[in-house]
Amino acid sequence: MQELHDAPLAPLTTFRLGGPATRLLTATTDDEVVAAVRAADTAGTPLLLIGGGSNLVIGDKGFDGTALRIATTGFRLDGTALELAAGEVWTDAVARTVAAGLAGVEGLAGIPGSAGATPVQNVGAYGQEVSSTITEVVAYDRHRGETVTLTNAECAFSYRHSLFKEHPERYVVLRVRFRLEDAQGLSAPVRYAEAARALGVETGDRAPLDAVRTTVLALRGGKGMVLDADDHDTWSAGSFFTNPILDDTAYEAFLGRVRERLGDGAVAPAYPAGEGRTKTSAAWLIDRAGFTKGYGSGPARISTKHTLALTNRGNATTEDLLALAREVVEGVRAAFGVTLVNEPVTVGVDL
Ligand code: EPU
Repeated sequence: MQELHDAPLAPLTTFRLGGPATRLLTATTDDEVVAAVRAADTAGTPLLLIGGGSNLVIGDKGFDGTALRIATTGFRLDGTALELAAGEVWTDAVARTVAAGLAGVEGLAGIPGSAGATPVQNVGAYGQEVSSTITEVVAYDRHRGETVTLTNAECAFSYRHSLFKEHPERYVVLRVRFRLEDAQGLSAPVRYAEAARALGVETGDRAPLDAVRTTVLALRGGKGMVLDADDHDTWSAGSFFTNPILDDTAYEAFLGRVRERLGDGAVAPAYPAGEGRTKTSAAWLIDRAGFTKGYGSGPARISTKHTLALTNRGNATTEDLLALAREVVEGVRAAFGVTLVNEPVTVGVDL
């Protein structure tokens, strides 16, 4: 296992932000991951898990403890059953499933980060969420001190949430198992209107599998949501805030605020989110609160391609980023009475 001291963490994150770790370990097998976690827990040393670093905001002071980079490999396809090691690069794994003619995760192409991170926040885009194809997650349970296999139901998935996110100190994902579908070269039904439009199909129809993958990559690319080291719009964590889910009372109050601010004809995006609940769009709220694309004059700004991505223009600090995030949260709350919640995990800092 590789071991470094006083190791910079910023290069391991897509924001390229944050101070060093006292110690940085890189584990390439499940046994190494488990051994490193056990050792840290036995010694009472704080532990930070790092996968693809695409959902991490690390404080400028860094991390006083052991940072463990999960760099395990393993892509195993058996019929329509797929098993991925936590360290596999997610978007590469998606490309391989599509090349193998299997449907179910093609809408999740281009999402940065590692396979092991996908169940944690139930990664989703373009009408798919990993919760609809994951069958089991193999994880090391730090409370029980043993490796456990959790069924889909036990993972308690919901919008950008799961058991793993609920108990961030408890589970270390080692393997993720999926059940894909052989739809004879077609995708899963396309559920996202924007993607269906771009593909020229009706929402709910299937489309050629690889066309869905490439269309999603193009849509994501246009929003600055595909990593590109030369494009500062992608020095981000993708969506910085989750889309707010409002109960009926809060939603009525929200509609009142929208009319008050934007006029009687104004319509906010609204998606059903279960009985008595409506999901609206954080990107829209940010935009209409006055934080339009490219907002900001400092080294941390809103992406020029999508208002939901906060970005590092090259020489930002984490404090710069957090100052911008706080300004956005306060501005949206003042304008619409809705409090945005950050999607990325923060380390040593709070919003
Ligand atoms: N909008 C604006 N201004 C913008 C961009 C968007 O007003 O600059 C409005 C548009 O009116 C649009 C609405 O916001 O109708 C929603 O935008 P979009 O379709 O891009 O989706 P999103 O809700 O902002 C979510 C996910 C993304 C995922 C896309 C596509 C969350 C927090 N974000 O974004 O996931 O790629 O849908 O499915 O659920 C991520 O989680 O990191 C992520 C990128």
